[in-house]
Amino acid sequence: MAPQCFETMPRIRFGAGSVETLGEEVRRLEGSRVLIVTDPGIVKAGVLEAVKTVLDKAGLAVTAFTEVESDPSLEAARACVQAAAFARPEVVVGVGGGSSLDLAKVAAVMIANEGPIEAYFGMELVPRPGVPLILIPTTAGTGSEMTSISVLSDTHNQVKKGIVSRHLFARAAILDPLLTLELPQRVTAITGMDALVHAIESYVGVRATVFTDTLNLQAIRLVAGNLRPAFANGRNLAARENMLYASCLAGMAFSNTQNGLDHALALAIGGKYHLPHGLLTAFLLPWVMEFNAIAVPHKFARIAEAFGEPVAGLPALEAARRAVAAVRALLADLGISTRLGDYGVSRQDIPAIARAALGATRLIGNNPRTVTEADVVGMLERNY
Ligand SMILES: [Fe+2]
Repeated sequence: MAPQCFETMPRIRFGAGSVETLGEEVRRLEGSRVLIVTDPGIVKAGVLEAVKTVLDKAGLAVTAFTEVESDPSLEAARACVQAAAFARPEVVVGVGGGSSLDLAKVAAVMIANEGPIEAYFGMELVPRPGVPLILIPTTAGTGSEMTSISVLSDTHNQVKKGIVSRHLFARAAILDPLLTLELPQRVTAITGMDALVHAIESYVGVRATVFTDTLNLQAIRLVAGNLRPAFANGRNLAARENMLYASCLAGMAFSNTQNGLDHALALAIGGKYHLPHGLLTAFLLPWVMEFNAIAVPHKFARIAEAFGEPVAGLPALEAARRAVAAVRALLADLGISTRLGDYGVSRQDIPAIARAALGATRLIGNNPRTVTEADVVGMLERNY
């Protein structure tokens, strides 16, 4: 085996009610001034108030930035960084979906680094660690609480870009499934699919390791067994807990490998059309799996197995195709169309989307099959 490396963040609190430990976690990091980064939906759902109450009880001084938008733009990130500069927190706490967690990462790290933020797009370009960060996901999920990645929309250039830096790792993540019970059905579906896409792209990718394989296969099994129940009945605590666990495992893995062609396309389409990230990665998944299957059929066969498909004795490629069928069946049950035309994407934009996707070298570099612009155009045309 070639030498391998695996890196992750240091501390996870997990289970129903674990958000109650937030004060203790902040104290552990020797902070007394806390900035919470979150979005208006979390405020409306009463989650911000609950989190504040926990921090108040611990005698901590709290301010909150509550203006996180979905698909956060560079401008939104600048506003959040400004709020952080004003509040001068000793600990930053991100609460919410991927957008809130990604902006909390940027706020924490920019306190200790000179701007502009866009100077840090790319791999490991952030010079200094920021203030300690605690992340509390309320979706399951982006897995952002486990990763060293933050994705922002460059609205000027109509493209989404990632900052990847070990300084973006949280010092602690708190995974409390009670916070996910009220997620609307559609959000449950698309964020759950995003977790599955992370696990699959990381598992079949060229940068996969023995560590990420174990995490990803377990994440795939958990999503296969729990996303339908969580979607069908949002109050199913066991299913919610398993989905949060799955999302965390996949996040831990893909932070090491990065994703692949699916995410490259999702960033390219998402930069131009403001469709939710999880929806994009979800409907792209079967197309990308079909394309990639011949590169690593044995791995796709294991995915089929993780979905409970009866593949024993089948040739690897046939088993691999069962994995694609299993994903298509899941998408059908979640009511997610797999036709590009259903999402308002114009056919004329296909060549530009293909070019932008191939420009995401961080992601394309992990894809198991070499991919050309013609491949991508063909894929989008076939599935329009
Ligand atoms: Fe994703």
